[in-house]
Amino acid sequence: MKMNILVTGSKGQLGSELQELSTKSGSQQFFFYDLPDLDITSHDHVDRLCREHRINAIVNCAAYTAVDKAESDADTAYRVNRDGSAVLAECAKEHNALLIHISTDYVFNGESCTPYREKDPASPRGVYGKSKWEGEERIRQIDPSWLIIRTSWLYSAYGANFVKTMLRLGAEREMLSVVVDQIGTPTYAADLAAAIVTILDTCDPARHYQETYHYSNEGVASWYDFAAAIMEISGLSCKVLPIESADYPQVAPRPQFSVLNKSAIKHDWGVAIPNWRDSLSCLLQKIQTHTKA
Ligand SMILES: NC(=O)c1ccc[n+]([C@@H]2O[C@H](COP(=O)([O-])OP(=O)(O)OC[C@H]3O[C@@H](n4cnc5c(N)ncnc54)[C@H](OP(=O)(O)O)[C@@H]3O)[C@@H](O)[C@H]2O)c1
Repeated sequence: MKMNILVTGSKGQLGSELQELSTKSGSQQFFFYDLPDLDITSHDHVDRLCREHRINAIVNCAAYTAVDKAESDADTAYRVNRDGSAVLAECAKEHNALLIHISTDYVFNGESCTPYREKDPASPRGVYGKSKWEGEERIRQIDPSWLIIRTSWLYSAYGANFVKTMLRLGAEREMLSVVVDQIGTPTYAADLAAAIVTILDTCDPARHYQETYHYSNEGVASWYDFAAAIMEISGLSCKVLPIESADYPQVAPRPQFSVLNKSAIKHDWGVAIPNWRDSLSCLLQKIQTHTKA
């Protein structure tokens, strides 16, 4: 069945990738919104759009994602990530729509040394992670039909992200120090967008879903590995040096290990997940092609 799908936060990294994908695949009818036309903390906004477009599913790509800024701007982080998620859950329930909500590896404290499973206890360390975790919990309490997908280290051709920062610094400098003791997996937002479309194309709108999933690219990396791969694949001669987190103080605490176990989403939805280096190559090729054009 072709569904009417409301995508929030459509100007962000993931929202933009979904928008690009929707122009190639006509399987669903998407409606893309971001601030100021849709503020997810406004019940009136969300309700009006659900009515106007007869929405069957909401994909929530909207979030307060400034991890460090959140430490001094907790009210806004909680308002968007917790209260906004609750508004979307209420509206999804009122309109019998499926809510696909995106969350984060930062709900974990990073003390594990094996990939996190969905049922592992959450114990976020900073305001951003706490606000995202409370957003998840509000969705579970309100209980529309819901799927929560936690992801990690998102990057894309759109918006600001680590890859773009490294490309800029790599072109300016001969040497760059990057932390080697934070381990996780980069995720190309285009791959996550494709997984979301697969779920939308194969889900049963009559079913009441209540599942949490993990999605990142395959493989494991430190930020140092990620930066070195960016330089290598894009042919930049900038040398990347490994440093410890203690030598690179950041405002918000980060999990030292946040690799996600993705067995459940692969099993339940048959999504194929590319390796992070392959996806990074795709993005860098895309950026190069656009720069030359
Ligand atoms: N980025 C990462 O590394 C990462 C890692 C793990 C999980 N995630 C999660 O993945 C999801 C997508 O992340 P992303 O990187 O695509 O985020 P993003 O690029 O920061 O985009 C978020 C979008 O939401 C918008 N927004 C903020 N407050 C809003 C509100 N009240 N109502 C409606 N829209 C609002 C933002 O607008 P403004 O720009 O105007 O504020 C922005 O366009 C988020 O749930 C995030 O928590 C991200």
